[in-house]
Parts: sequence; structure tokens; C-alpha cells
Amino acid sequence: MPPRSVFITGASSGLGRGLALHYAKEGATVHAAARRGAEIEVLAREAPPGHIVPVVLDVTDSERLVKAIRDAEAASGGALDLVIANAGTSVPTNARKMDWTKVRRILDLNVTSACVTIAAALPAMVGRNAGQVVAISSLAAFRGMPGNASYCASKAAVHIFMESVRVDLRGTGVTATTIYPGFVKTELTAKNKFRMPFLMELPDAVDVMARGIARKKPTIAYPLPMAAAARALSSLPRSIYEPLAGRSRIPS
Ligand SMILES: NC(=O)c1ccc[n+]([C@@H]2O[C@H](COP(=O)([O-])OP(=O)(O)OC[C@H]3O[C@@H](n4cnc5c(N)ncnc54)[C@H](OP(=O)(O)O)[C@@H]3O)[C@@H](O)[C@H]2O)c1
Repeated sequence: MPPRSVFITGASSGLGRGLALHYAKEGATVHAAARRGAEIEVLAREAPPGHIVPVVLDVTDSERLVKAIRDAEAASGGALDLVIANAGTSVPTNARKMDWTKVRRILDLNVTSACVTIAAALPAMVGRNAGQVVAISSLAAFRGMPGNASYCASKAAVHIFMESVRVDLRGTGVTATTIYPGFVKTELTAKNKFRMPFLMELPDAVDVMARGIARKKPTIAYPLPMAAAARALSSLPRSIYEPLAGRSRIPS
């Protein structure tokens, strides 16, 4: 059964926009959250009429985020089927030029807002023993990449948060899915100056994610060659990994 009601953060561009459009076209009412209201309005015009409910919101404002999720729940008759914590950012935080304000901005958005999104959605889902929460981590979650301490740490935090959530939800009707994308063409990667192996087109990425979510997979890592490389890197001992990683150009 496709979801009838969805709440997704970061729906104004990239992966979140692609997923919002996908579920709206499947017939769901999609509560689409982001700061850029004008972009959400464009999305609403592209989707079947009435299927996008714009939620103009800075998700780092936790009180407003939680209220928006509660409002979406109430509007769905108390039954949000699918909640996706997708909003995120990536800017380099090179340890040689560390800027604590950037570190805080990344952790507030990628960790706090993502975990609050999932936490706010769970009580109602657990109460009715149904529903699915999804969080977007990254293949960058498994090793400390050069120049990206904050981004890698933020995605590792989401990875572990969701793993614990899944353990706790075993035996309930609520499922938790963590997604680990490699590189996908979005606004986020458009600013990257380094080579991005196996860079994927957005529609292909949306297709992989939507199929995995529909099958209620615990984890979705893509594309496969990048997922395999991340797995191989994560098993390297520190004495090999760190000199190897240190040889690459550090983004700044
Ligand atoms: N693209 C990739 O290759 C890739 C790889 C691995 C993981 N990811 C993860 O996938 C997720 C989506 O990334 P993307 O590539 O689709 O990026 P994107 O195109 O830059 O989209 C980011 C979304 O997050 C929203 N957002 C940012 N700050 C926000 C805030 N304070 N409050 C509310 N919304 C906010 C943006 O909307 P507004 O600016 O309108 O608020 C936008 O809709 C992120 O968590 C990212 O880390 C992406």
C-alpha cells in the first residue's frame, strides 16, 4: 500500500523534492517542509493539484518543527504514514581552518533537526502500531573524510541514532529506514569542486530510495559500487586509512 500521508523535510530541492513529487504522484498528501516557500509553491504546481501541503519552516527551530509534524498528523486524521528526515547541508570544515560557527550549523541541521523529526513522529506511530520513519545519512558516515569532520560526524550520528531506533522498534508495526546515498546531482553537490565517483542523476536516486522505502528495508545504500567502496574503507585499520585519506586534496 503506498503511503497516504507523508511529511518530508528539505522538500524544496534535491532528494527531498524528488521524493515529495514521487509520493504526491502516487496519490499521497505530502507535507513538504523547507525555508524557501517559493520553491515549495513551484513544487506544488508541478505535483497533482492539492497533493502538496507547503510547510515553510526552518527545521533548526525545534519547537516549530515538532508543531508542524503534530499539525500534519492532525490533518491526516492522526495517521502520518511516512516521515522523512532529509533536510541537510554540507560545507567543508577543514581542521586546519576550523570555524566553530560552521560546525555548529551543520550539527544543528544534520543531527538535531533530523533526530527531532524522527523523535516527534514516533509517539503517534508507536501508539497506533503503524508507520515508517526514514532518515537520510550518507556513505560519508563510515569514515572521517578529509576536510569534512562535521559532515561525516553528523551522518555517523544519524546512522547510529537510527540503528538504536530500529532495535527498539523490533516487534512493533513501526519501521525505521536509514538511507546512505553516495553522490547525487543536487544543489548540495553542485558546489563540490572535487571529482565525484559514480555521480547519480536525481531521478535514478529517487527511484532507488522509493523502492527501498516501499519494501520497508532497514537500510538503503547506493550506488552499489560506492556502497562497496565505503564498506571496504570502513574495514581498513586506522594505520592504513589515515595516511591514505591524508593524501587526497583537502576541500576547504
Ligand atoms: N546529494 C548527495 O550526493 C547526497 C549524498 C549523501 C547524503 N545526502 C543527504 O541528502 C539530504 C538532501 O540533500 P540534497 O543533496 O538533496 O541537498 P539540497 O538539494 O541542497 O537540499 C537540501 C534541502 O534541505 C533544506 N534545508 C536546508 N536547511 C534547512 C533548514 N534550516 N530548514 C529547513 N530546510 C532546510 C533545503 O531547503 P531550503 O533551503 O529551502 O530551506 C533543501 O530543500 C541531505 O541530508 C544530505 O546530506 C546527499
